[in-house]
Amino acid sequence: PKRFALVPAAGIGSRMGGERPKQYLTLLGRPLIQHSLSVLCATPLIDKVFVVLSVADREWGRYDWSTLGPKLTPLFCGGASRADSVLGGLRAISNQTEQSDWVLVHDAARPCLAPWHVEKLVREVANEEVGGLLAVPVADTLKLADVQQHVIRTVPRDSLWQAQTPQMFRYVMLRRALEAAREVTDEASAIEAAGLHPRLVQGDATNLKVTYPLDLHLAEWILRNREE
Ligand code: C5P
Repeated sequence: PKRFALVPAAGIGSRMGGERPKQYLTLLGRPLIQHSLSVLCATPLIDKVFVVLSVADREWGRYDWSTLGPKLTPLFCGGASRADSVLGGLRAISNQTEQSDWVLVHDAARPCLAPWHVEKLVREVANEEVGGLLAVPVADTLKLADVQQHVIRTVPRDSLWQAQTPQMFRYVMLRRALEAAREVTDEASAIEAAGLHPRLVQGDATNLKVTYPLDLHLAEWILRNREE
């Protein structure tokens, strides 16, 4: 089976508070999304890389993507939610995929993806029935609160993980799961809703998601220290 990367990048990044969608913010002189696309295009573990963009996207065409090579294909079929964008992308590539091919869904908003993250995920998920995802064990003590921000109780963190991306599942299983469960914030949730149990592969905190302005500074620091 082949492995395809699918990168949803059709969000507007409202929590960043800027004009420009966060996938196009400048990070070390390049659009944020280009960092993880470079890693996905460069690894021999991935056969093709599809980017799901909004039909209203006005930014993609302003950059030269040819430096990333022939694996990269933009798809202008983004949806109203992340899950809709991923499902739209899966439908758009149906004529290029076999049922048993793997799809690695990676957030455009995670620019610090490193080659070892992809390698470890692929290696550890290769023999799994269902698939899996990068994740990190929760470090903080977690509080469950009411709407007035009073603690109801402390949630034991021993078996809690933070989900990251890439999330790697078989094409047909992922598509079916997302068709059935639309209101999910990641692919694994859809798979879980189908009664299945994705495997967690331990990554690390450098694979952060750029959500708030501080994250952009952290990402810059991480990438800069990795290059040197
Ligand atoms: O908003 P959030 O950080 O959860 O977005 C995660 C990823 O999903 C981002 O890469 C974003 O561009 C993408 N997304 C999308 N279509 C949407 C909303 C978000 O592709 N409608």
